[in-house]
Amino acid sequence: YGDASQKVDYVFKVVLIGDSAVGKSQILSRFARNEFSLDSKATIGVEFQTRTMVIQHKSVKAQIWDTAGQERYRAVTSAYYRGAVGAMLVYDITKRQTFDHIPRWLDELRAHADKNIVIILIGNKTDLEDQRAVPTEDAKEFAEKEGLFFLETSALEATNVEEAFVTVLTEIF
Ligand code: GTP
Ligand code: MG
Repeated sequence: YGDASQKVDYVFKVVLIGDSAVGKSQILSRFARNEFSLDSKATIGVEFQTRTMVIQHKSVKAQIWDTAGQERYRAVTSAYYRGAVGAMLVYDITKRQTFDHIPRWLDELRAHADKNIVIILIGNKTDLEDQRAVPTEDAKEFAEKEGLFFLETSALEATNVEEAFVTVLTEIF
């Protein structure tokens, strides 16, 4: 039913992962509702939001799943990754440790997700350039080595957030 604008050709599940406080929930909020909050609370369990976009003349409903970076608040891992066709691996450019943990997140992802999953590495919080602790080149090199897409974003300034989702959704296609 409904008119052409409501017709959905594809539903793609995309998961967000990465350490606590890197900005996963705010990236999702920016993408799904164009909203941002500076006093975002740590996610407990799993949440998801959707946004329908036109990609290559098809209506694509992105169903984005967001879970806690904190181990104690995380949901069952296998259920979280089940059916996911895209993944966004997020770190905070001002916190070196969140980048150093990326290989662990990648291991978990590769252990539980479909082997064809499209993965993008995201360095968030580029608005805090003066506090940068992870050089762009380091991340770019890591992404190339691991075969990941890579972008730096700012959920606060809405920089590259849309581009990151479009990159993943287009590649899934
Ligand atoms: P968990 O749910 O605990 O895993 O954390 P999370 O990765 O979802 O982090 P969240 O989105 O809740 O953001 C953590 C903090 O970083 C909040 O205070 C956000 O406002 C802030 N934040 C998120 N994105 C940005 C950004 O692009 N720039 C700046 N300056 N702050 C950001
Ligand atoms: Mg969160």
